Amino acid sequence: MIKPDGVQRKLVGEVIKRIEKRGLDIEKLKLVLLEKEMAERHYAQHKGRPFFDGLIDYVISGPVVTMVISGENAIAVVRKMMGATDPVQADPGTIRGDFALDISENIVHGSDSKESAEREISLFFGEEI
Ligand code: RTP
Ligand code: MG
Repeated sequence: MIKPDGVQRKLVGEVIKRIEKRGLDIEKLKLVLLEKEMAERHYAQHKGRPFFDGLIDYVISGPVVTMVISGENAIAVVRKMMGATDPVQADPGTIRGDFALDISENIVHGSDSKESAEREISLFFGEEI
């Protein structure tokens, strides 16, 4: 997912370009303003943490781009391309390391396991025909 700050800063093309150049496949893609309930379901694992309310407000503050990405080791490769959650720790050359400074506005989200990918794909694309 390209988060609201990534869309607002017009980094959609940059992120997609990196995914494509790496050789991964974009299977599905859409621009959507998340409803609060969907954002809370998406980040349910973080419910109760001090940053949860701010995270939800941020992720519904503007449209996001959701994608289904496939390819060899797609989950691990995309996580590497994103860089560390806190952009201060993210290596240069990663999306967060090149474009972000603040953990609460870190441009992208990526599923962190096969289970979370399946859950998130069904959350964001499941109800489509
Ligand atoms: P994401 O879920 O967005 O792909 O990021 P991640 O796996 O790298 O990090 P995660 O631990 O799942 O945290 C989810 C998002 O919550 C925000 N966060 N803020 N203020 C804080 O201490 C804090 N910690 C996490 C970040 O936007 C992070 O991407
Ligand atoms: Mg996460």
